[in-house]
Amino acid sequence: MTQGEPTVELRRVTLGYGGFIAVKDVDLTVPTGTFVTLLGPSGCGKTTILRAIAGLVPALGGEIIIKGRRVNDVPIHKRNIGLVFQNYALFPHKTVFDNVAFGLKYRGVDKAAIEKRVKRALDVVRLPGVESKLPSELSGGQQQRIALARAVVIEPDVLLLDEPLSALDANLREEMRVELKSIQRTLGITTIFVTHDQEEALALSDCVVVMDHGRIEQAGAPEEVYRWPASRFVADFLGQSNLLPGQIIDVANSGATVRLSGGGEILVRNGAGAQLGQAVETVIRAHRVMVRPPGHETGPNLFDGRVQSVAYLGGMAAYVIEGEIGVHAINTIDRQIFREGDRVQVSIAPEDCVLLDDKGLRIGH
Ligand SMILES: Nc1ncnc2c1ncn2[C@@H]1O[C@H](COP(=O)(O)OP(=O)(O)OP(=O)(O)O)[C@@H](O)[C@H]1O
Ligand SMILES: [Mg+2]
Repeated sequence: MTQGEPTVELRRVTLGYGGFIAVKDVDLTVPTGTFVTLLGPSGCGKTTILRAIAGLVPALGGEIIIKGRRVNDVPIHKRNIGLVFQNYALFPHKTVFDNVAFGLKYRGVDKAAIEKRVKRALDVVRLPGVESKLPSELSGGQQQRIALARAVVIEPDVLLLDEPLSALDANLREEMRVELKSIQRTLGITTIFVTHDQEEALALSDCVVVMDHGRIEQAGAPEEVYRWPASRFVADFLGQSNLLPGQIIDVANSGATVRLSGGGEILVRNGAGAQLGQAVETVIRAHRVMVRPPGHETGPNLFDGRVQSVAYLGGMAAYVIEGEIGVHAINTIDRQIFREGDRVQVSIAPEDCVLLDDKGLRIGH
């Protein structure tokens, strides 16, 4: 297989249970060696897609292709797939060695090779020497690594991970997150990861696939999806955003000016396609709303305001600002902390504004 050819491809795939359609006409391409994350609210169809790739749920329509082969009718044991689920499901009465060796024995690999590969898999997950232990003698994080070792030892075409970190506490979860990424990189293994934790998705992925109600809303690099949400749903679901209703009062040079319903006018750099008089929403990430002392900056999109409330979040402060414009802002506390009642200036770069039409879809780009 050539470099850049996708390992997994879904073409207009529809999935369901009984008469219920859980996933509708989904197209997805997972390039070889990449880490792709399915992100979305509970019930949006993430697990169902993983199950379909594994062969646990039949496709009602469309094609599932793994390494160039249509696998719709290929049973699970004939697809070369590594699976890790939330409740890692190790065999409790088997040793770590037997747990990790399971898939290799099943495939008829000879004994010497099994020993070598199990040892290497345990090295990769940084748990050398635990072969003779039982799962119950290991911590949650260690058991999760064994589950990972068991999945990668067979050298699967694709590794499917369904919220594998969600049973772990916050600290361990973060640690395992870093480790998971480094294991994926080391092995260069094509990975599809499911989470509803957006931070996890943004931190780990080459590509984030945002889903809602059985459909893909947007797929792209984390920074792209974050910066250029394709829809209201993505803007709202990913990160903290201001969604300000208004109307287009000027268009020029592929930019636009919006009169906000709450007062004030805002210049938007990417407004190609916006129509004069059109009702829009302007999306501005809370992290991109800059709160400064009055008269601090010059340029477009400066608004006088007052701090209505402030919450301290470690190195960041979350402000609610009222005045010429009503917005939420999250700023690092580097130079200055503002307090309730302080007069401030709000500055928003025109390139940080995204326009949505009345159907909630992005205008421009
Ligand atoms: N075995 C099943 N039988 C019937 N309906 C199911 C079954 N499994 C899932 N569903 C339904 O299919 C839809 C998608 O479920 P799925 O498990 O794929 O969601 P998910 O995105 O993984 O959610 P979560 O984040 O809660 O795990 C949901 O509406 C769910 O109720
Ligand atoms: Mg799920």
